[in-house]
Amino acid sequence: MSKVDNESPTPPEVANSQVPERSTRSIEILVAVCFVISVLATVGLAVTYWLGGQPQVEGGLLFATLGGIGVGMVAWGKYLVPQGPYVQERDTIKSEILERQALLESLDRGSKAVGRRPFLGKLMGASIALFGLINLFPFLRSLGPVPKKALTTTPWRKGSAVVGPDGKQVTSSTLEVGGVMTVFPSNDVGGAISQTVLIRVGTANWTTRPGRETWGPLGYLAFSKVCTHAGCPVGLYEELTQQLLCPCHQSLFDVLTGATPVFGPAPRPLPQLPIYFDSNGNMHAQAGYDQPVGPGYWERP
Ligand code: FES
Repeated sequence: MSKVDNESPTPPEVANSQVPERSTRSIEILVAVCFVISVLATVGLAVTYWLGGQPQVEGGLLFATLGGIGVGMVAWGKYLVPQGPYVQERDTIKSEILERQALLESLDRGSKAVGRRPFLGKLMGASIALFGLINLFPFLRSLGPVPKKALTTTPWRKGSAVVGPDGKQVTSSTLEVGGVMTVFPSNDVGGAISQTVLIRVGTANWTTRPGRETWGPLGYLAFSKVCTHAGCPVGLYEELTQQLLCPCHQSLFDVLTGATPVFGPAPRPLPQLPIYFDSNGNMHAQAGYDQPVGPGYWERP
């Protein structure tokens, strides 16, 4: 290896040694400070994002994160790594043994120059790794809160008071035969997944399916209003045919047989809510729905 204009080669370590030892120390400190700033800014960015985010603060911290890595790497590369340029003469293709040895020594010196600064290397690795890690945050947060049991249960519970949209409790005389209304549990009036359609099909107890002998007292039947196809509210009741119609894709549910779908894309019956009247004639739920309401990603019996 030799320098341009056929000067004798200047080993990297010699070139680097031209930087005074005190200056080298200062530059190492500068590089370390840059990486530390980057790490702290990344942590700050993560905390800010987790707490809800603030665009200006996030922008400033992102600037500090990337700026710290950038300035640190540039300073390290410019002042701490041996500098060239070195040009190999081309007049001889086959290199001499001495030249090969010089090359190997040169490479060795270069790697030692880097290897002497493991602390800076670790700091740089930490700042880059942390920055990579923080990029996962938007993906994780965008997934939203954990649904817990929200997909499989509703606010309906054993004994829930059945109320109308105005919060008034439903009694045995609330509906005439052929009447229909939307009801909710008293603790979730207006709730999207607890909305239930209440129909009165007669005056005598009505059994829609075996095992549901007590679910329809005095001809009152209650079904989830959330369509099992795509979740639209099933709000149209045709008294003549005793069918519920979903207006979104025209699914028809036969009320008397447990809201089984008889037309349209809905794949499953509307879940039925078991209800009863207390001694004062007020309506309550015997229990919650025995299956998830609405369209399902699961298979139901
Ligand atoms: S959402 Fe009810 S039929 Fe499509």
